[in-house]
Amino acid sequence: MSKKKKENWGSQLGVILAVAGSAVGLGNFIRFPGQAAMNGGGAFMIPYFISFLIIAIPIACSEWALGRAGGRRGFNSVPGIYSLAGCGRKSWAYVGAIGAYIPLCISMYYLFVEAWCLAFSIQYFTGILNSLGIHAPSFLSGTGGPGMILGSAEGYSRFFAEFVGMNADGALYRSADGLNILTPLFGCTIFCLVFNYYFIWRGITKGIEAFCKVAMPLLVLCSLLILIRVVTLPNPTGEAGRSFLDGLGFMWNPTRPGQTLWQSLANPDVWLAATSQIFFSVSVGFGLIVTYASYVRPKDDIALSSLTATVSNEFCEVVLAGLMILPPAIMFLGASQVEGNLGLFSLGFNVLPNVFEQMPFGQFFGFLFFFLLFLAAVTSSLSMLQPTIALLEEGLNLGRKRSIGIMFIFGAVGTMILYHFSKNLYALDTFDFWVGNFGLFVMAMFQTILICWVWGTDKMYEELTLGAKIRIPRMIGWGLKYVSIPYLLVIFLFWTKKNAVSYWQEILSNPLAQLVIGYLVFTALFFCLVTYLAWRRWERVGKSPAQIYARDIKEESK
Ligand code: ALA
Repeated sequence: MSKKKKENWGSQLGVILAVAGSAVGLGNFIRFPGQAAMNGGGAFMIPYFISFLIIAIPIACSEWALGRAGGRRGFNSVPGIYSLAGCGRKSWAYVGAIGAYIPLCISMYYLFVEAWCLAFSIQYFTGILNSLGIHAPSFLSGTGGPGMILGSAEGYSRFFAEFVGMNADGALYRSADGLNILTPLFGCTIFCLVFNYYFIWRGITKGIEAFCKVAMPLLVLCSLLILIRVVTLPNPTGEAGRSFLDGLGFMWNPTRPGQTLWQSLANPDVWLAATSQIFFSVSVGFGLIVTYASYVRPKDDIALSSLTATVSNEFCEVVLAGLMILPPAIMFLGASQVEGNLGLFSLGFNVLPNVFEQMPFGQFFGFLFFFLLFLAAVTSSLSMLQPTIALLEEGLNLGRKRSIGIMFIFGAVGTMILYHFSKNLYALDTFDFWVGNFGLFVMAMFQTILICWVWGTDKMYEELTLGAKIRIPRMIGWGLKYVSIPYLLVIFLFWTKKNAVSYWQEILSNPLAQLVIGYLVFTALFFCLVTYLAWRRWERVGKSPAQIYARDIKEESK
């Protein structure tokens, strides 16, 4: 641990906004509506709410308890916190290193998508997007280049593909006339990197908390403005099936033409999609909540904060994103066009621009939408960087500037790999599969085992009730042990069976997959080395989790 004065959140509102900000992100506004619509609409919401109750709430509460318990004993890094909870064993410190590694790796591609959002909002601001019949800007080349007419789903898909470099690798330089220029996306990517690292450098209170206190209300305001616009829209074509209520029906009806509710629920893919969505959206298993909770003052409430942050995330996802994205898409484009474009990014980046173009004041609302996505993304990406900073500062006593410098090198190289190898977003997909899906499940499993069988659910409960402003039922520990873990295990086995073979074969046969995995492995080795050095330093100064744990046991037995 460093000798510096321990950092804490400035206020309870600040920590709630920061944790809610960490949860509210691209997963809420881009991933959720697409997943819901692709997996049976209202039928998807049943496993979604079940996962929310048996995965999100108990695991989030347990992460808060684990984090603050570690913070009270002077640790902010996930390896330190895990090892302390794991009876001072060194092996748990290495497991905890995954909790710093995963969010940094996720931030590498998350920041890239954040840059798309910023770039799209600028394109709206300057009027390049939302210009029916206007030729595409000259920085685009190839199939989507000058002469391409926007104003159709196909036009916007081509614009998006060209803009983010899906047609070819090496998208750093691209122009219609053969001259090499930097694309606007390059500037936005660099800006996002610098912007995030700047707020991290300012620290917990002056950086993350200050940003979230402005960004969270602002993004809710932007969403409400769009929502008011959406619910007051008349049926644009006057045709049947194109009203706001028809749009809502598309999202929420539990049955689909030709498919009953039970048929949808019998499909394991619907359960997998719902659980993965909950994981990604609430940010459980990321190591983020554990790190943020370690900065809560020792006797401040965590029970109410935990529930408030989790429920705020659901409000943004189910109410705001649920109402403002699919209904207008159905109203302006009709169900068949929307159904053909429900992929991970296509709903947000291909379908919605077409909707904004046809909507009165669409340029303004397009700008608001992508700007709110940018804000939501930054509040999440900031939280992904803090666990690594906490480990480098506390483990190696490097000081903030040097820690940020090292983290920047790893993070920026990862983002630039994705920027360069942008063809078909293959590299991004590989990153997302191995760290954003597989890694999260593995981390959540390890962590829940640590909490339930090593640290103990009684200790977790004691921690949750310390300073609590609401009473959490004691059976949360039982639920975690006997409901959450088996549920998690079943979902993980199904998910692995479905996906792992094809992704594994990619690693064996595709050089780009090998490069991506090579970089992930290299970064993982770096985290192992840092944990090894951190442990040695902690032992030298007499403050390793093992030494602290042994002293605590001695105290207790007196
Ligand atoms: N929870 C964050 C999101 O939903 C990562 O984007």
